Amino acid sequence: MQTESLKTDDKGFARAAQILRQGGLVGIPTETVYGLAANALDGKAAAKIFAAKGRPADNPLIVHIAKFEQIYDLVTEVPEAAKKLAKAFWPGPLTMILPKAPCIPNEVSAGLPTVAVRFPSHPAAQRIIAESGLPLAAPSANTSGRPSPTTAQHVLHDLRGKIEAVLDGGPCGVGVESTVITLATPTPRLLRPGGITLEQLRAVLGTVEMDDAVLHPLKEGVRAASPGMKYKHYSPKADVIILQGTDAQYAAYVNAHKGSGVMALCYNGDDAHLEVPAICYGSSSDDAAMAHELFDALREFDARGAQTVYARCPEPKGVGLAVYNRLMRAAGFEVLALA
Ligand code: TXA
Ligand code: MG
Repeated sequence: MQTESLKTDDKGFARAAQILRQGGLVGIPTETVYGLAANALDGKAAAKIFAAKGRPADNPLIVHIAKFEQIYDLVTEVPEAAKKLAKAFWPGPLTMILPKAPCIPNEVSAGLPTVAVRFPSHPAAQRIIAESGLPLAAPSANTSGRPSPTTAQHVLHDLRGKIEAVLDGGPCGVGVESTVITLATPTPRLLRPGGITLEQLRAVLGTVEMDDAVLHPLKEGVRAASPGMKYKHYSPKADVIILQGTDAQYAAYVNAHKGSGVMALCYNGDDAHLEVPAICYGSSSDDAAMAHELFDALREFDARGAQTVYARCPEPKGVGLAVYNRLMRAAGFEVLALA
C-alpha cells in the first residue's frame, strides 16, 4: 500500500476523515506523540492497528474524543473524579480509564471491562476527530517496542506502506505519551506518568496511588494493571545504560569507556567534557525539555549506529517522572551508580 502524506489543510483533513470513515488507518499529530488512528467503534478497523504496529493483542487502545460530552457514549459511568480531572486538564495529555460501554469493541479494550479515554488539545487532532465524526482509537504510531514518534517522519520511518496516510502537523509539543490514570479502582491510580504530573493529579483528587510498574520492572507472575507497561519499550537498538552520579563522575566514566559505537545521552553542557559523540536532551533542571527531546534522541542513536548509550536521567518527580519511566524502560532498568 502507498502511504499518503497529507497536509493539515482543508484537503488533507477531508482525505484523512474519508479514510477513517472507510475503516482505514491514519497517523495523526497530537500534543504528546503521533497516534495511529482508526474508527474506535469498528473492531475490524481497530484490528488493523495491531497488525500495522505488530502490537500484542492484549494491549488495549486509547479512544480519543473532541468534546467532553462524547465520553458519555463510551463509558457506563462518569464519576465525579472524572469530571474534576476533565475540568482541570482536558483538553490535554491525560487519559482516564473507566468502565466501558457496550459499543466499545473487544479489539479496542483488549477484552478488558474498561476503556481508556483522552481529549487531546492539539488543534489538528481535534479537527480530525470532529471532521470524521468518530471517536478515534489511537495508540502511538510507532512499530511496537520502538520509541514513540514525535514527527510525521518518524511515523513514515516505522509504518510506510502499512497505513493509508499520515497527517503532518509538525513536531509534537510534550514529546512523551499522555499520563494514564485509572478511575476504575477504589482509589485513583497512576498507571503511566506523562505531561500531567502526579503532583497535579493529587492537587485535584487528593489521594492518587502510583502503580508499581511506574518505577519498577514488573515482577514475575504479577498481572500488569496497564498491559502496555509490561513490554520492553521505547528501545533504540543500542544498549542503554543509565549512569547515576555527579557531572564529573559521569564524564570520567564515559571517557574511560569510549570506543566504537559508544555514545552519550546527556544534559546541555555535559558534552564539552565528553570524548564520545553525544546528544544533549535539555538542561539538567528542565524536565519538560528532556521529555520533548527524548524519543527523537533515542531514534537518532539508531540512525548513528550507536551500540552503547550512557545516559543521564532526571529525578522521578514532576515531568521528570515520565522521562525516568521511559528511559528506565529503554535501558531495560540497567542502572549503574557511580560511587
Ligand atoms: O499520548 C498518548 O496517550 C498517545 C497519543 C496518540 O494519544 N497514545 C498512546 O497510546 O500512547 P499507547 O497505546 O501507545 O499507550 C496506551 C497505554 C498502554 O500502556 C495501554 O496498556 C494503556 O494505555 N491502556 C489502554 N487502555 C487501558 C485499559 N483499559 N486499562 C489499562 N490500561 C490501558
Ligand atoms: Mg505506545
